[in-house]
Amino acid sequence: MPPAPSTAPADPPAPAALSAPAERDDPTAATGRPVRWGVVATGSIAGRVVEDLALLDDAVLTAVSSRSATSAAAFAGRFGAVRGYHDHGGTTGWERLVADPDVEVVYVATPHAQHRAVAGAALAAGKHVLCEKPLTMNAREARELRELARDRGLFLMEAVWTRFLPSFGRVLDVVRSGAIGRVRWLQADLGAPVPFDRASRIWDPAAGGGALLDLAVYPLTWALAALGAPDGITARGVLHEDGVDLHNGLTLSYADGAHAHLTTSIEADCPGTVTLSGTDGWLRTGAPLYNPGELVVRSGRAAPRTERFQPVGHGFAHELREVTRCLQAGLTESPRMPLADTVLVLELLDEARRQMGLRYRSDAP
Ligand SMILES: NC(=O)c1ccc[n+]([C@@H]2O[C@H](COP(=O)([O-])OP(=O)(O)OC[C@H]3O[C@@H](n4cnc5c(N)ncnc54)[C@H](OP(=O)(O)O)[C@@H]3O)[C@@H](O)[C@H]2O)c1
Repeated sequence: MPPAPSTAPADPPAPAALSAPAERDDPTAATGRPVRWGVVATGSIAGRVVEDLALLDDAVLTAVSSRSATSAAAFAGRFGAVRGYHDHGGTTGWERLVADPDVEVVYVATPHAQHRAVAGAALAAGKHVLCEKPLTMNAREARELRELARDRGLFLMEAVWTRFLPSFGRVLDVVRSGAIGRVRWLQADLGAPVPFDRASRIWDPAAGGGALLDLAVYPLTWALAALGAPDGITARGVLHEDGVDLHNGLTLSYADGAHAHLTTSIEADCPGTVTLSGTDGWLRTGAPLYNPGELVVRSGRAAPRTERFQPVGHGFAHELREVTRCLQAGLTESPRMPLADTVLVLELLDEARRQMGLRYRSDAP
């Protein structure tokens, strides 16, 4: 059985009254020396994350890279980066960026299939790395990156931003307090119809397209946080003729009888929420489950109570604070998003793919 993930709560004590939410720190306030960032790719998530990076008092955007000179210049101009690198003369923009001595940490925001190569090159060049989810296409590649980071004493983290949101912390506090008893069952779904577009990474099997790699990280994150590492997984999926999965259903089972039902889809609209059912109450997040604005908690026989959350910026400021704090403290892993959890999630995804008959052309798990 895989080790319990870091976020897995211990057995909760006897049912407890629901406490007030804890005050959480402002993620924009500096926690130490300035940290110099380089950003690889100028796509949709890169822009949103860098908008939040600009909110941090101790973050400096030093460089950006793109395949194209125009995109690199536009992105650098928009965010005030000193340098913009692009593909030129047989060298990629990201190869130039990771060689820049002024870049300390590289944020990798390319499609999944390039994560292993770009993050690996950054680590080999002595840079710390924050890499978009999923860290890699499969668990083998993630273990390779972990080994590289450990060998070089460098920081490496998968950008599962949900873990650092105040709402996520509050759910863990509620579960650990015993306010809903022992969690016996969890349900989570995430999805929306994505129009077919052969040029999109979502529909491209070589880019790890489909619902599973793009979305299932989030429901799995919630399940592992609430219930720990599962003892078994069963997976079913419906595949498109081009090879990506349209939707999938994962069931995690636990030796003590608990279970989790997780669904992700690029074909159907889903509520996008998480429900935890306990022996003494229940908890339901608002949507989207990767950044819920509210939680409804029913503890014991009390009336359900709604709590609201306002993330800072788009919500990425919280994970960016964690990376900054870890680098300032000289840590090589985040205790809140350790690489063991990343590898465990990818092992579960590998096994789900095996059961679903899902193969991406660009990798061999
Ligand atoms: N944390 C989150 O909430 C979140 C949300 C969405 C996506 N993501 C993750 O972020 C990653 C990127 O997603 P996205 O939605 O931003 O995708 P996207 O809009 O397609 O952008 C990806 C960017 O990567 C670069 N790129 C594309 N193909 C490449 C290739 N073959 N080699 C090198 N670079 C390439 C391009 O930038 P240039 O043209 O500048 O080179 C492109 O704009 C995915 O792994 C995804 O899972 C995370």
